Amino acid sequence: MDVTRVRELTAAAERVVVLTGAGVSAESGVPTFRSGGGALTWRGMEATRLSSAELLASNLPLVWEWFEYRRGVLASCAPNAAHEALAAWQDRFPSFTLVTQNVDGLHSKAGSRDVLELHGNIGRGRCTRCGAREALEMPLATIPPPCSACGADLRPDVVLFGERLPFGVFEAAREAAERADLIFVVGTSAVVYPAAELPEIARRNGAHVVEINPEPSGIGGAHAVVVAGKAGETLPLI
Ligand code: OAD
Repeated sequence: MDVTRVRELTAAAERVVVLTGAGVSAESGVPTFRSGGGALTWRGMEATRLSSAELLASNLPLVWEWFEYRRGVLASCAPNAAHEALAAWQDRFPSFTLVTQNVDGLHSKAGSRDVLELHGNIGRGRCTRCGAREALEMPLATIPPPCSACGADLRPDVVLFGERLPFGVFEAAREAAERADLIFVVGTSAVVYPAAELPEIARRNGAHVVEINPEPSGIGGAHAVVVAGKAGETLPLI
């Protein structure tokens, strides 16, 4: 583990960006999508199919059942040492931006403010007619749940495969990556775009790249400093 080198980089850094993925929540008991060579499945279908715009258009109730299953798993999950370490980092650097692909809300639960949630949040629904967003009860009384404003069906307020990211969120993340002098890539397989572009954007603009992952993705190329370890064990050391 190259923790000493990472500590040096961290001590000198002023504008830090952290990009997290499912691996940061793994030690909280949240299943990842692609760890260990296998894909996450439910009722025999892959998560990428279940979380797709195509399935939403053809079978909204099934998409809700999948999200209800995930919300049920999350109900018993709490932030871990990785989320807590990152929450403490927001007061450690002159500029700090936390960008996550996770929809589980665990960074905010740990106390992180202004988290850029690229893929939305599983705790909210969004109206398919009027676009209003609302927090969802757990468990849902009806599937699909109705919009409190207009009565139409809600959909999960999550970015699905085949959909664009919510306006403004990726732009804010890209700006932070362009200005960063250090970017951490934690617990992501870095295969889903445009999130996976952020380390590359930062690197092109002169930032150091640190990857933390027990099975490193290789993002950041030969120049990246790699800490091959679990987020909950290594982030507190840094
Ligand atoms: P993946 O499941 O693709 O990758 C999880 C990564 O976490 C893998 O590289 C693991 O090696 C790593 N990992 C596992 N345990 C870890 C630990 N304890 N500490 C650190 N790393 C660990 O998840 P994402 O890259 O987040 O999109 O997936 C990206 C997107 O694809 C998700 O946001 C989701 C998914 O389909 C949507 O839902 C739109």
